Amino acid sequence: MSEKLIIFDTTLRDGEQAPGFSMNVEEKVKMALQLERLGVDVIEAGFPISSPGDFEAVRKVAEAVKNPAVAGLCRANRKDIEVGWDALQYAKRPRIHTFIATSNIHMKYKLKKEPEEVIEIARDAVKFAKNLCDDVEFSAEDATRTDLDFLCKIVEVVIDAGATTVNIPDTVGYTVPMEFEKIISTLLNKVPNIDKAIISVHCHNDLGLAVANSIAAVNAGARQVECTINGIGERAGNASLEEVVMALNVRKDVFDFVKTEINTKEIYRTSRLLTSITGVEVQPNKAIVGKNAFAHEAGIHQDGVLKERTTYEIMTPESVGIPSNKLVLGKHSGRHALMQRLKDLGYDLSREELEIIYAKFKELADKKKEVYDEDLEAIVENQMSRV
Ligand code: KIV
Ligand code: ZN
Repeated sequence: MSEKLIIFDTTLRDGEQAPGFSMNVEEKVKMALQLERLGVDVIEAGFPISSPGDFEAVRKVAEAVKNPAVAGLCRANRKDIEVGWDALQYAKRPRIHTFIATSNIHMKYKLKKEPEEVIEIARDAVKFAKNLCDDVEFSAEDATRTDLDFLCKIVEVVIDAGATTVNIPDTVGYTVPMEFEKIISTLLNKVPNIDKAIISVHCHNDLGLAVANSIAAVNAGARQVECTINGIGERAGNASLEEVVMALNVRKDVFDFVKTEINTKEIYRTSRLLTSITGVEVQPNKAIVGKNAFAHEAGIHQDGVLKERTTYEIMTPESVGIPSNKLVLGKHSGRHALMQRLKDLGYDLSREELEIIYAKFKELADKKKEVYDEDLEAIVENQMSRV
């Protein structure tokens, strides 16, 4: 029997913290409703104390969605938590998410506090939050650069204080899969009350490892992954939701011990909604949702895909809500793809005609990045009018 993997989406909080990605109230509500259709379990709607607009956005999202839990981020102090609760309280399933940094670097230079003080602040914050809300998540910021014994200690304390989810963020994208797997197994083996909480992970992408690290953590026993649509987020971004979910789906044979409730057919629509709201496109080669993710240009690949699509496609575009794959015609394309496209455009050409068109097509393809249908039509019409 596979266990449920909770998908915690933080597009509206960590995602929008990235430069150029902020969203207004209306945009956040629109995005939240689409995230609900996508089937995420938790929507982190914002950081209520950070601005009146964000407070309002969290409140409106809390009122708008029905199925997912709605979380709001609060630093580990009573004021943040009170304000957070004011925004969250009307949600069907509110969650207070409170955090404090636990690494020596952060405690010494940023917080200027001793480790024991940090433990007491975390304990007090979680207890205070628990009096307001049953569902409390605690995050140990910069957990992957935190002394592991200290991390075990603070995790035990916050679970005793009432945290039902304990999040282990790789705040600066510093860890690597083997190490992260070990951190999660150590917590699961050493923290005596760990079975009272879900272990969550939250990976940043500074070394391009956010998805790999999240998956390694799931392998070790984490049962919540925090991620964002298109992988947006601070600096190099967060783990991309679509990549985590599709890695687990496509490789069900490896990950048969977990399952998510994501409706993968809504992935592309969600990605497009985000790019239309923020005005920031994903790179063409972005896994799953990029313009080239299901496009084939090389002749050998096009020939393979035309014969049997699984030769070069490990998932179908339809499975993520993209209507079809794309055979792009360019200088690497071969006769098979050209013939297919000409057929699709309604031309029934003889072998000789095709050879002439193919030569003209190659000539043009060497001068352009992509040969479009209109270009092909022009070549064919031009050629036909000569005979
Ligand atoms: O990256 C991080 O540590 C965070 C926490 C606040 C969860 O975003
Ligand atoms: Zn983060």
